[in-house]
Amino acid sequence: MAQYTFEPFKIKAVETIPLTTHAARERFIRDAGYNIFLLAGETVTIDFLTDSGTSAMSDHQWAGMMEGDECYAGSRNFFHLQAVVRDIFGFERFVPTHQGRGAEQVLFGVVAHPGKVIPNNTHFDTTRANIEARGNTALDLVIPEGLEPTNRHPFKGNMNIAALRQLIEQTGVENVPLVMMTITNNAVGGQPVSMANIRETKALLAPYGIPLFIDACRYAENCYLIQQREEGYRDKSVKAIARELFAYADGFTMSAKKDGLVNIGGLLATRDPALFEQIQNRLILTEGFPTYGGLARRDLEAMARGLEEALDENYLTYRVGQVRYLAERLLEAGVPIVEPPGGHAVFLDAKRFLPHLPQSQFPAQALVVALYLAGGIRAVEIGGVMFAQKDAATGETHYPALELVRLAIPRRVYTQSHLDYVAEVIARVYAERQQVRGLRLVYEQPRLRHFTARFEMV
Ligand code: F0G
Repeated sequence: MAQYTFEPFKIKAVETIPLTTHAARERFIRDAGYNIFLLAGETVTIDFLTDSGTSAMSDHQWAGMMEGDECYAGSRNFFHLQAVVRDIFGFERFVPTHQGRGAEQVLFGVVAHPGKVIPNNTHFDTTRANIEARGNTALDLVIPEGLEPTNRHPFKGNMNIAALRQLIEQTGVENVPLVMMTITNNAVGGQPVSMANIRETKALLAPYGIPLFIDACRYAENCYLIQQREEGYRDKSVKAIARELFAYADGFTMSAKKDGLVNIGGLLATRDPALFEQIQNRLILTEGFPTYGGLARRDLEAMARGLEEALDENYLTYRVGQVRYLAERLLEAGVPIVEPPGGHAVFLDAKRFLPHLPQSQFPAQALVVALYLAGGIRAVEIGGVMFAQKDAATGETHYPALELVRLAIPRRVYTQSHLDYVAEVIARVYAERQQVRGLRLVYEQPRLRHFTARFEMV
């Protein structure tokens, strides 16, 4: 039997959950073109669309919001955030940004001149889009195990170091302005990256002089999984693990909407003084002055406090335990998921869940629609809708290796009974999976099409 980890908090404010009928949901999803991004939040019962910006803040964070000093330059809340960033990440030079893609947009605006190649273990959609929008190539070099849903490798998010070496040699050092590592590796299932892999990546890059940037949004979950899974880290604190990990990095971007436990905010840091100057200048153009970076100062205070709370090991045990609990309940019902579960979400394997649907009928998107219809659960597709690419020359569509449905669990929001409800609904859909119908794409945008695409049922 799946074991649930006790919530290390009690509830001080509550928010009503919308309950809907099957008939109403049929209407809502049809009107939304079978795209859950186009649903009104008030039509969703359990919202697992994302763990980003959906956390519940603590009383300590809310109290900090009242202590926001809303001055334009040099707010005390910036200096608090600076002390926390120095303490956790060991970086002196950083700017706040409005969210993760704000940091990406500033960084790539400075370093990614057209024609460059930027590898990552796996780029998230906004990172890829920010790189490609500037005429660069975004490459994914995850280890092969990362693309095998049932392979129980403990660090499936790892970078394929041999492939990275080969890429640098073939492309030329001058064409690789930086290498990124996304921790945890969201797009392949929230899978962690090992300390050994980060150390080896850094060792490969150092002689070439190529900087290593961490995409750090879920770094606390990644460091917790290093503590739990990697030899030699059992007795180290998660914070000490984070300090070691970031010591290998030359910079990082972070969406603080994940492990910063805030509803909005991001960070961009570098050790390079010249790059930092360019970043600050660019930031002023697009985000704001370097001591607020597109945020209210009260948001900086909430971020400073949230970054510290996310390293509380009782919290992390509960957090990652909640993900594992949902995964185990689904495995008990025979539901195919990506194993082992990662840090922030359970990923359903739609290819095995709906083997009767070809990739051209978007099995993962079809499963997302089925979960909404069955129980008002909003999940998100990470498959052909998000990542399929059309060959400009032949017009042929290349589908990604994985068709996944991500059930991203917001931090400190849902309780065990909510997870039990989700597990029961999914088990029911699985029992009746033959009835799930495929989808046909009827409208799309050229970039990031998953946000606005519309479908019809086949
Ligand atoms: N990098 C990763 C790995 C992400 O998962 C995200 C966002 C970003 C960068 C961009 O950050 O949203 O603050 O601009 N991921 C969200 C998600 C949207 O649902 O996984 P952002």
